[in-house]
Amino acid sequence: MTPSEADYQRAVDLLLAGELVALPTETVYGLGADAANPAAVAKIFAAKGRPADHPLIVHLAGHDAVEAWAEQVQAIAWELMETFWPGPLTLILKKQAWVPDAVTGGQDTVGLRVPGHPVALELLRRFAAAKGAHAGIAAPSANRFGRISPTTAAHVAEELGEAVPLILDGGPCAVGIESTIIDCSRGEPVVLRPGHISPLHLEAVLGRVPAIETSHGAPRVSGSLEAHYAPTTPLRVVTGERLLDFLNAQRHRGGTCGVISPNQPPQAGMPHAWRLLPADPVGYAHDLYAALRDMDHAGVDLIVVEALPSGTEWTAVADRLRRAAAGAGQA
Ligand code: TXA
Ligand code: MG
Repeated sequence: MTPSEADYQRAVDLLLAGELVALPTETVYGLGADAANPAAVAKIFAAKGRPADHPLIVHLAGHDAVEAWAEQVQAIAWELMETFWPGPLTLILKKQAWVPDAVTGGQDTVGLRVPGHPVALELLRRFAAAKGAHAGIAAPSANRFGRISPTTAAHVAEELGEAVPLILDGGPCAVGIESTIIDCSRGEPVVLRPGHISPLHLEAVLGRVPAIETSHGAPRVSGSLEAHYAPTTPLRVVTGERLLDFLNAQRHRGGTCGVISPNQPPQAGMPHAWRLLPADPVGYAHDLYAALRDMDHAGVDLIVVEALPSGTEWTAVADRLRRAAAGAGQA
């Protein structure tokens, strides 16, 4: 799954011309535009149907680009970059005055990330070489607003189709859920969105487990809206003990379920669709969005997700599931 020389060239030309390019990252696919070009960034919001006050993450080719976009970067933020970049971590930093409001949602901060996917990095390097100063790619997840983030190029085509002139295919995303977001703009680093880089990973750098602050009054982080990452089919989370009774009751009512679980079906001949996910949080995160998407396609009446264990290592996927349940069935 490596784009050709011609694909990269076309991607850079499109970005320079203010057009959109979908690109793979190690977390989820992004819908990219030249972050220094407000007209190009506006196309992202139009394609996604996303409210314009939602800030976007700017993807950079490397650490050396950070100070073009951010100022007053604290030592602890540099340490986080050194440790986790390129990788699934986004830092919220005080923005440089020139950074367009279109990218920041009018806030005085900007979200920055150097992604770990080789195709994203190659594109970012080529874009930086072609553009010179202020080269960054603004990219939210390449899904329609509120829906499940895409983890393959085919998912992007399904979500946005004609709205994107080019989708670079980098294969399935290794992580499968969106980056961890840490706000380093106001003193103590605070987690705004949990992700693959967990509180325990962060503790190793910060010297303590950071606070998690996932709900805001204002939509500073769109992932912090209750309904997000949602399938079109209604979704219920049911505990393992109640699962068999719940499914039997559904069957008596004549309803079909698609079950997503890290465990085998509790009895043979289960009439419902069953998607077995890995029983570890990293494997589970990797497969979750594709499983939700498959269940949407399966035409079941209800998606039933078996409740997750409560350990901190499950925080990120539990967060996505809670929001998926809140927004499901609202197509
Ligand atoms: O893994 C990811 O982060 C993916 C890939 C493509 O990099 N991107 C992604 O973008 O998830 P998006 O737009 O779907 O989510 C980015 C989140 C949003 O919830 C946005 O509100 C938040 O980052 N964000 C961006 N800039 C911010 C800022 N200045 N202050 C607070 N939140 C910010
Ligand atoms: Mg998103």
